[in-house]
Amino acid sequence: MFPPRLEGPRLLLRPLVAADAPRLTAILDDPAVHRNLRLERPISLAAEREFITALARATEEVVVGIAARDDGRLLGVTGLHQLADPARQAEFGIFIGGPEEWGKGHGQEATRLIVGYGFDALRLNRVWLHVHADNARGIHAYERVGFRREGVLRQAALRGDRFVDVIAMAVLREEWRARR
Ligand SMILES: CC(C)(COP(=O)(O)OP(=O)(O)OC[C@H]1O[C@@H](n2cnc3c(N)ncnc32)[C@H](O)[C@@H]1OP(=O)(O)O)[C@@H](O)C(=O)NCCC(=O)NCCS
Repeated sequence: MFPPRLEGPRLLLRPLVAADAPRLTAILDDPAVHRNLRLERPISLAAEREFITALARATEEVVVGIAARDDGRLLGVTGLHQLADPARQAEFGIFIGGPEEWGKGHGQEATRLIVGYGFDALRLNRVWLHVHADNARGIHAYERVGFRREGVLRQAALRGDRFVDVIAMAVLREEWRARR
């Protein structure tokens, strides 16, 4: 399932196509990116293509590419997962790369677009996420768009051979509406 084109001031969220696989694999291969993600690695091009192809048929998630409107370059991926939850909530996920693209507001703009789609078109009541406790950039970006910290899941993620704490965050429909 893909949403209609979602456009912000500088970004376009669009369906992923098989030809995006090399760019996405390159972004995910960067340790600065994948250290913050729950991801089985290494990712082969074939596996990435398969993942992308399956998205069109997926009914329980929307996953889209984040592209720059000025030159169309693919900056990353964002999505809402576990959409079948009867409590009308979904998990939010995102990655942008490489690091030279960080800190330009892309994360916040893409988050606003996909989470707004979740509340407006998919009628969600709650959007939640899990983020490594040391991902200060991510946590700050999520707070800026309206997510709140709900708690710490101690040692809930594995990075290399080390357990790391995870922060649970969420934004409710009423909070989202009140801010906009
Ligand atoms: C997390 C991620 C999506 C954020 O995207 P981004 O485009 O860098 O985010 P933005 O530029 O919109 O916002 C980043 C904010 O964090 C701030 N920031 C940067 N470094 C920071 C730090 N060390 N501590 C606190 N805030 C920091 C920036 O100043 C900015 O806030 P501002 O708008 O108030 O100035 C992106 O960095 C990324 O994909 N990282 C790798 C993968 C990842 O972590 N995915 C998320 C897993 S939950």
